[in-house]
Amino acid sequence: MRRRLLLTAVAVFAAGGAVAQVVTHDLAVQAIMATAVNPAALAFWAGGNDPPEGETPAQAQARWDAAVAGAQVLQAKGRELLTHSRPGRWDEFARMLSDGAVQGEAAARAKDVDKAFEIGGGPIYDACNGCHKAYIPSPARLP
Ligand code: HEC
Repeated sequence: MRRRLLLTAVAVFAAGGAVAQVVTHDLAVQAIMATAVNPAALAFWAGGNDPPEGETPAQAQARWDAAVAGAQVLQAKGRELLTHSRPGRWDEFARMLSDGAVQGEAAARAKDVDKAFEIGGGPIYDACNGCHKAYIPSPARLP
């Protein structure tokens, strides 16, 4: 259940990327997404996901460490997205990402899987999804 929700989230972003290919790209924002936000989100989500089968304690520690680091990157990139502000709710979504990632970092430090899941599927997912829905044109709206 948990795993399914987060994989669905990833598929939505992948689709957003494909759609973005047919419109004019904001190269700076695209690079922030591809090189930082997306990998950081995947690392954070892995904290709230079901552990891989047969995970050793050392591997679990590494997964949580990566989740903490991912949350820190999301905080920094949320702030950086404010410097690429656009009219509308852009700043709100950027802040939702960085504020959500502050809570996310605390949950990952505490290795609180339920809290990490809740934050990953809540404010962090809502920031990604809200911003993409508002600023990446859907195929239906293209000529
Ligand atoms: C404040 C707005 C905003 C937030 C928040 C946001 N994105 Fe994006 N994202 C964009 C925009 C705009 C694009 C399209 C960039 C372009 O190509 O012009 C994009 C594109 C992408 C892409 C495609 C990159 C590519 O290589 O073409 C991925 C993947 C992505 N975002 C992942 C995420 C994830 C994961 C999150 C949340 C953890 C997130 N984004 C949060 C605005 C945002």
